[in-house]
Amino acid sequence: MSVTIIVGAQWGDEGKGKIVDILSARAHVVARYQGGPNAGHTVVVEDEEIILHQIPSGILHPHTRCVIGNGVVIDPVVLMEEIEFLAGKNINVAGRLFISHRAHLIMPYHKSLDAMREQAQGALKIGTTGRGIGPAYVDKYDRCGIRIVDLLDRQTLREKLLSNIEYKNKLLQRIYDSEKLDTEKIIQDYIEFDKRIDPYVKDISNFINRAIDSGEEILIEGAQGTMLDVDFGTYPFVTSSNPIAGGACTGLGIGPTRIDQVLGIAKAYTTRVGMGPFPTEFEQAFGDKMRQLGGEYGATTGRPRRCGWFDAVVVRLAVQVNGLTSLAITKLDVLDTLPEIKICTAYKYGDKVFDHYPAELWIQEQLQPVYETHPGWMSSTREAKSLSDLPANAQKYIQRIREITGIPISIISVGSERSQTVLL
Ligand code: GDP
Ligand code: IMO
Ligand code: MG
Repeated sequence: MSVTIIVGAQWGDEGKGKIVDILSARAHVVARYQGGPNAGHTVVVEDEEIILHQIPSGILHPHTRCVIGNGVVIDPVVLMEEIEFLAGKNINVAGRLFISHRAHLIMPYHKSLDAMREQAQGALKIGTTGRGIGPAYVDKYDRCGIRIVDLLDRQTLREKLLSNIEYKNKLLQRIYDSEKLDTEKIIQDYIEFDKRIDPYVKDISNFINRAIDSGEEILIEGAQGTMLDVDFGTYPFVTSSNPIAGGACTGLGIGPTRIDQVLGIAKAYTTRVGMGPFPTEFEQAFGDKMRQLGGEYGATTGRPRRCGWFDAVVVRLAVQVNGLTSLAITKLDVLDTLPEIKICTAYKYGDKVFDHYPAELWIQEQLQPVYETHPGWMSSTREAKSLSDLPANAQKYIQRIREITGIPISIISVGSERSQTVLL
């Protein structure tokens, strides 16, 4: 039995939800450690698409216990909607969903501030999901965040909220010329939420360490992706947490010595939602075509995703900063009809060649990808059940990704359904 972290190796939306769902069939515990309702993880079960935002994708298997760690920022409104949505599908979370008492809450003022700041930034906006993620993490590190434990003591909750709302009202009104928040309504809403969340609250560090001690199979589900990491991504066009594997330790309260494997998920090409550098991005017409082929629209916001070729420099960065032990390549089928497929192996910047991702934003924005071109396979991969079922050129493409990233490929996904998966 082992502990496996699953992380996005690109800019998010790599198909983590699908892979976590498949691997959950033999997991006891599935845990989220960072991010919040900015995530949209899709699982397709018998033609039905289920999108999860805060609850781990393992919840669809009735035997799993699912955990939301201290590193996640929780929006109570979204969480309650998600629990009800699942109940409507006869998926009962009671007794199998556990939420860290140390997790921070997203408050209504975080969502307002997220929206206002984006609006004020104009051309410099990040293109956030508008879910209040950044402002909630700002308060966590500013040490004025509201945690799940704070809900337990109504008097302290009231005092903390009064002080926070007074300050946020000043910000919203004086800087953003926005409406005043209704303090009493917010307090009442969160007291109501406390009553509903009570049965799920737990000491998650304790819970997960005991599960590891007793030899259970643990899956740790990252949200977003390496290039959206606040330290190693395309800063400032990133999210406000550490999606990389190290985030799992701080976001769940487990030590690095407890981790056995780190599985990176990468699409057979690349996508990104929101603003920021994207060296291998397609030009408009081809990008539009690939968006149609791959159904590349955001699972959380519905926004069109930007599309580009597979970028080996990006995935090599993911190998390094996550300590990946293997890769899952998803959406190979989306390339089925292309006569030629490119892989970016390095970048040019002036007369310099980069084989690693530079930290400077102004350089990132001017990188020219160096490509190698591979012949397409021009036939369907969607029925493949083993590597040898794949057309010869698709096998060569996968083999090349293996060589250029330097790590084994353990899973190939050739469609959104559970059965459309090749386990190597
Ligand atoms: P996540 O955020 O990493 O979980 O990924 P999303 O759910 O946001 O986006 C991935 C999309 O691709 C979803 O619509 C999935 O159903 C779909 N998907 C996952 N794997 C495959 C695949 O191998 N082929 C195709 N065609 N679609 C896939
Ligand atoms: P999953 O888990 C893709 C992007 C946003 C924006 C930036 C910051 O489904 O892969 P935020 O709301 O986090 O402050 O936005 O990060 N972003 C994602 N892009 N997939 C995600 O999650 C994302 N979560 C945030 O588009 O560019
Ligand atoms: Mg997604």
